[in-house]
Amino acid sequence: MKAYLFSLAFLFLSLAQGLNTKGQGTTVKVFHVYSPQSPFRPSKPISWEESVLQMLAEDQARLQFLSSLVAKRSWVPLASGRQILQSPNYIVKAKVGTPAQTLLLAVDTSNDAAWIPCNGCVGCSSTVFNSVKSTTFKTLGCGAPQCKQVPNPTCGGSTCTWNTTYGSSTILSNLTQDTIALSTDPVPNYAFGCIQKATGSSVPPQGLLGLGRGPLSFLSQTENLYQSTFSYCLPSFKTLNFSGTLRLGPAGQPLRIKTTPLLKNPRRSSLYYVNLIGIRVGRKIVDIPASALAFNPTTGAGTIFDSGTVFTRLVAPAYTAVRDEFRRRVGNAPVSSLGGFDTCYSGPIVAPTVTFMFSGMNVTLPPDNLLIRSTAGSTTCLAMAGAPDNVNSVLNVIASMQQQNHRILFDVPKSRLGVAREQCS
Ligand SMILES: *[C@@H]1O[C@H](CO)[C@@H](O)[C@H](O)[C@H]1NC(C)=O
Ligand SMILES: *[C@@H]1O[C@H](CO)[C@@H](O)[C@H](O)[C@H]1NC(C)=O
Ligand SMILES: *[C@@H]1O[C@H](CO)[C@@H](O)[C@H](O)[C@H]1NC(C)=O
Ligand SMILES: *[C@@H]1O[C@H](CO)[C@@H](O)[C@H](O)[C@H]1NC(C)=O
Repeated sequence: MKAYLFSLAFLFLSLAQGLNTKGQGTTVKVFHVYSPQSPFRPSKPISWEESVLQMLAEDQARLQFLSSLVAKRSWVPLASGRQILQSPNYIVKAKVGTPAQTLLLAVDTSNDAAWIPCNGCVGCSSTVFNSVKSTTFKTLGCGAPQCKQVPNPTCGGSTCTWNTTYGSSTILSNLTQDTIALSTDPVPNYAFGCIQKATGSSVPPQGLLGLGRGPLSFLSQTENLYQSTFSYCLPSFKTLNFSGTLRLGPAGQPLRIKTTPLLKNPRRSSLYYVNLIGIRVGRKIVDIPASALAFNPTTGAGTIFDSGTVFTRLVAPAYTAVRDEFRRRVGNAPVSSLGGFDTCYSGPIVAPTVTFMFSGMNVTLPPDNLLIRSTAGSTTCLAMAGAPDNVNSVLNVIASMQQQNHRILFDVPKSRLGVAREQCS
């Protein structure tokens, strides 16, 4: 009887939370880089306007990076003097090596490899992983199967070494292995780039963890442990003191969640493409040419979810249609611009809802994911923009501001991406 009651209570709990409680799973905290818990926050407080302009400027470099991925050519954007830190926006704490050394890694869903600044690195920040002090550290040679997964490797001595570009940076790394743990589950022999030399400002100061879906990514290397499944809830950058969560593995993931199929681009295996079929502003489905939304593996066109871009970018015809309908619904209030945002209002507005219509899933953005408001409440902007016209603009990017306070589920085995509202800040 007791056992029965217990299982009933357990069932009720699981049902109440709608969670999958079977199997292994683990949850780690995710912080915004500007959070008080982050050593990478600006040294002096910056105003709302400054921080928004800052994030927009960083997005520009990010979009050029993403465009270079889809176009398969390398872009080296000019780093603007304003940029304090040009990197993905959310960080997690990782323990690397034996005994463990703690590093704050930036998470990037559009990249596969992990890179960690190592002892002897030229051009890295002062916090590096000291490989000499780790008893489990190994260097991989050119014969290692993982060496075939990095672009254009060369053999420095017997070490598999490769060059890569990331944003405005070039990175020279040795391919190495060590134990890495984001939570209590250690992952032995994790293959990552041990950075020897870095130029430019795009390398996150203590390293990067690739959560893309290609062969060298965290997902692929922890497939037995986490079954290529993870989700996150990103805290709002308005409430920097909050942390969100990164949940690894199928356990604890929401069972009732709207999902859309993930699309695979063999030429860009790391990116999470989805099928965006339309956009609704208020009750109106705006008129967007099909070519602006269509997935095309050859050109890289289509729509991705990305954690490293802050504000959603739509290709020009899609953005123009959304913006024009948005303005029409707001009424005749005078429109101004702020940095790259072209639809700002001084004074209060009644904004229409905006719904992204994906195959099988409609996502309506709450006002906090749609509008950016100054702390004084005097300025409100539509927090999206057209893709920059100086790059190969074929990619629609659903960015982190639009994902905040939602659980975003990446379920690679079932080839689906899920979205559910969740207040994590
Ligand atoms: C990287 O490889 C080079 C060439 O084999 C070697 O000299 C260097 O010590 C390696 N660095 C680390 C941190 O293992
Ligand atoms: C990496 O790039 C630098 C500069 O372009 C070049 O000097 C070096 O030989 C390259 N190293 C490898 C291992 O490809
Ligand atoms: C942020 O959190 C830290 C640690 O939890 C706390 O000490 C600090 O007072 C908080 N700051 C604000 C502005 O809430
Ligand atoms: C999304 O919204 C459109 C237009 O309102 C509707 O026709 C469609 O059935 C909805 N799709 C889903 C999956 O709910």
